[in-house]
Amino acid sequence: MALLITNQGQSICLAFFLVFILAFCSSQASCSRQLYGEDKIMLQRFEEWMAQNGRVYKDAQEKELRYNIFKSNVEFIEAFNKNKDQGKYNLSINKLADHTNEELRAMRNGYNVRQHLSTEATTSNSMKVSPNTFSRYENVTEVPPSCDWTTSAITPVKEQRYDCGSCWAFAAVATVEGLNYLKTGNLISLSEQEVIDCGTSTEVDGCRGGYVDKALEFMIQSNRSLSTEDGYPYKAVDGGVCMVDLNASFGAITITGYEQVPQNNESALLQAVANQPISVYIDAEAEEFKHYSSGVYTGPCGTNLTHAVAIVGYDTTQDDGTKYWLVKNSWGEEWGESGYMRIQRDIDAREGLCGIAMGAYYPTA
Ligand SMILES: *[C@@H]1O[C@H](CO)[C@@H](O)[C@H](O)[C@H]1NC(C)=O
Ligand SMILES: *[C@@H]1O[C@H](CO)[C@@H](O)[C@H](O)[C@H]1NC(C)=O
Ligand SMILES: *[C@@H]1O[C@H](CO)[C@@H](O)[C@H](O)[C@H]1NC(C)=O
Ligand SMILES: *[C@@H]1O[C@H](CO)[C@@H](O)[C@H](O)[C@H]1NC(C)=O
Ligand SMILES: *[C@@H]1O[C@H](CO)[C@@H](O)[C@H](O)[C@H]1NC(C)=O
Ligand SMILES: *[C@@H]1O[C@H](CO)[C@@H](O)[C@H](O)[C@H]1NC(C)=O
Repeated sequence: MALLITNQGQSICLAFFLVFILAFCSSQASCSRQLYGEDKIMLQRFEEWMAQNGRVYKDAQEKELRYNIFKSNVEFIEAFNKNKDQGKYNLSINKLADHTNEELRAMRNGYNVRQHLSTEATTSNSMKVSPNTFSRYENVTEVPPSCDWTTSAITPVKEQRYDCGSCWAFAAVATVEGLNYLKTGNLISLSEQEVIDCGTSTEVDGCRGGYVDKALEFMIQSNRSLSTEDGYPYKAVDGGVCMVDLNASFGAITITGYEQVPQNNESALLQAVANQPISVYIDAEAEEFKHYSSGVYTGPCGTNLTHAVAIVGYDTTQDDGTKYWLVKNSWGEEWGESGYMRIQRDIDAREGLCGIAMGAYYPTA
């Protein structure tokens, strides 16, 4: 039961040492201190966490690898939370705690979003079904001081799972669910798996990544409503056969176009979000982002757009007047604030915090 406290303990540890050069055991001495010393409590925490999260590892070696990652994540999170100067947000040990940031890259968008955004901006694509740098909201002057679509147009938080980089499908579908609500008054959870299975092209590639605008183009070209989430459930795998029942009537709207919010302009983004939920790309690479649990995220982050989410509102904090965007993520309800993140809004940099204003899209119908 206890980790590596067996007769083979030493040899397993040695093999481990050889495979993961210096990564976790720098010597036999530090190894045994780690296994028999003060880390018993940490090991207990790890095993409790494993039980809570239904984790089963294939062997002792895998368990030790995961334990070490867990331990270093816990130390990072506790050091961050202890630092009273860190300010506006907290971190917590969530279900991603046994994975490194490197591994979680698989869960992010594996595509080069920045290159895609600049190519889209400079080439005219005959496949394009609607002009995409036009925003119907550009002349909107009346923007309320706050907005929250989660009480009406937003379905419960979903979970893409850490082994599938399908964030682009979740972000796109959230905006379609929102528009469907605004047009019909019906809140219907729609199928990401349909987009993944049926929309696959060179630019939309299931679990390895994809682009929000390509997901929307697929929906427009298919000229039908997406299946419901229940009718075409999420499997977190790609390469599946498109199984949509073309004759079924699914009850949601068929989108007819999409538009891109003028880039690098949080005022333009505000005008759009005040009118409907919007999908955006963001840089989600930071450890802090992964472990975020509450408050207004203020960085660190750059503009390496590795993730896609939906902006579903905005407001200002009561206590210190920090402006924020309300973001719906697809990492399950246990992550962040019940699956949501508040992220700082209206910063000096034109691209917005974590590049949130660089690539924003919404469907039209
Ligand atoms: C916004 O106003 C400008 C200037 O009057 C006009 O050219 C443009 O078409 C308007 N945009 C929309 C979406 O109405
Ligand atoms: C989409 O489907 C509708 C109803 O089936 C049909 O009337 C319309 O012509 C189709 N549009 C396109 C662009 O195929
Ligand atoms: C849809 O309906 C048509 C006409 O009734 C039929 O020929 C076709 O096989 C049906 N397709 C599917 C996928 O059920
Ligand atoms: C940003 O968008 C606002 C609102 O649409 C517009 O008034 C302003 O001119 C834009 N700023 C830039 C730098 O394009
Ligand atoms: C962070 O956690 C502490 C302790 O639970 C809490 O008092 C504080 O309000 C939290 N801060 C934020 C920004 O959520
Ligand atoms: C940005 O992301 C790409 C793809 O994940 C990675 O190769 C690159 O090193 C990252 N750049 C920075 C500055 O983090």
